[in-house]
Amino acid sequence: MTKEYVIKSEQEMIELGKIIGSKVDKNYCITLSGDLGAGKTTLTKGIGKALEVKSVINSPTYTILKIHEGRLPLYHMDVYRIDSSSGDDSLEEFFELDGVSVIEWAENIAYILPNEYLKIKIEILNDSSRKVTLKGIGDKYNKLIEELDNE
Ligand SMILES: Nc1ncnc2c1ncn2[C@@H]1O[C@H](COP(=O)(O)OP(=O)(O)O)[C@@H](O)[C@H]1O
Ligand SMILES: [Mg+2]
Repeated sequence: MTKEYVIKSEQEMIELGKIIGSKVDKNYCITLSGDLGAGKTTLTKGIGKALEVKSVINSPTYTILKIHEGRLPLYHMDVYRIDSSSGDDSLEEFFELDGVSVIEWAENIAYILPNEYLKIKIEILNDSSRKVTLKGIGDKYNKLIEELDNE
């Protein structure tokens, strides 16, 4: 199942993140792909809002992982600088924990991603518009996308 949105502002992107974040539960995994400045971190801010994260979510480009406490912990990863040759698979253990993982540049760690996840692609249309494509990998994520239809 896939679903597409055209998002017209930063605030709308945060709202979409809030809606998605309100549908996740412990152990969920969301992957984000899209160019620099596409809005991956912005979407993550919205997800964090839904998880009642109080700390500031920003681009953790120099820190691969930031853990934010909330209703559920948020494991915010930016794996821009990782590839399979760097052999860093210490992130893998977080996918087994009770928090929600959100991974920017997730394609760089395709080799350690869980079997099921919500795959989100963000494309820049112009200065303020983005196309966001959600794809469910696995039953529970397809169900999540179906539920979004009812909003
Ligand atoms: N519709 C939109 N959705 C998200 N960000 C937008 C949008 N329009 C403009 N922007 C701007 O694009 C930038 C996105 O940055 P960020 O979320 O850090 O991107 P990424 O994490 O993908 O590199 C921000 O400066 C934001 O203000
Ligand atoms: Mg970012």
